[in-house]
Amino acid sequence: MMRMKLNGLLFNIPFVNNVLFYDTIDSTNNKAKELAKRGSVHGSLVVAKSQTAGKGRLGRSFASMSDDGLYFSVMLRPEVSPEHLSGLTLVAALAVSKAIQNICGITPSIKWPNDIYVNNKKVVGILTEAGTDYVVIGIGINVNTKSFDKSIEATATSIYLETGTNVAKEELLMEILSQLNDLYDTFVVSKDLSFLVEDYNQGLGSLNKEVFIIPQQLTLTSPNPSLIDTSALEAVLCLGIDKDGNLVCKDSKEELHYVNSGEVSLRTK
Ligand code: ATP
Ligand code: BTN
Repeated sequence: MMRMKLNGLLFNIPFVNNVLFYDTIDSTNNKAKELAKRGSVHGSLVVAKSQTAGKGRLGRSFASMSDDGLYFSVMLRPEVSPEHLSGLTLVAALAVSKAIQNICGITPSIKWPNDIYVNNKKVVGILTEAGTDYVVIGIGINVNTKSFDKSIEATATSIYLETGTNVAKEELLMEILSQLNDLYDTFVVSKDLSFLVEDYNQGLGSLNKEVFIIPQQLTLTSPNPSLIDTSALEAVLCLGIDKDGNLVCKDSKEELHYVNSGEVSLRTK
């Protein structure tokens, strides 16, 4: 169904040059990386109805067995230097957030750097993986998902559960790719995130709120970072991202910290 509706339409998006659909796959990110290593073209898209081994950051898993979700990866061969590639995660988060607003009529909040929440629960996860001559942007969305596994039901939700309406996944995918295409084009020219700082910060759930920056040692040992005990950490004030995608925070001594996304997890106090 999805495949038939989309096949013609997807090639109207300028950066889409190759499309692969799967009913079930281990992980669309793994498949997209495999394609990249085999020399596939910039703009290769891998879409799956369900995944048996969906991945999050730092080796965590992303639940994506339900065929009510949208799971896909875009492989690009960007003409930007490797140190700027982490910015693509934020580009993708803004693209998905805008698309959800336009198609679903709700305003989600971005959890820096790579997740999207609605009513304090996670709806979208984004995983960017880079190789020497490619980057894969993987996006997983709980679209019409009706229930979740016990281990994540307190922290996960879906667009359906929040709005009471089933969303056409094809339409949402098209809008995300269209937003991503436009923001990506601007990013490649601008080479930093200055063009989206204002928009991104407007969508940032933690803007002007106190947050905890959780070091990686703690997140690595937890299956669900949302449930980590933060009582021993000092809260800092979140001032938003800068043009390099760092989260700028101010501590109680008025000192500024520029937090790099590779190293930490964020929790709102
Ligand atoms: P952070 O990104 O801040 O490090 P996180 O909790 O978002 O923390 P990620 O690695 O980004 O961690 O995402 C993986 C986590 O997302 C899993 O550990 C699980 O808690 C949660 N999760 C897994 N599948 C889903 C899903 N389908 N929907 C919502 N949340 C999920
Ligand atoms: C996260 O929550 O930290 C990121 C989750 C990313 C999930 C998507 S689903 C499509 C793609 N394939 C994967 O294995 N992961 C990403």
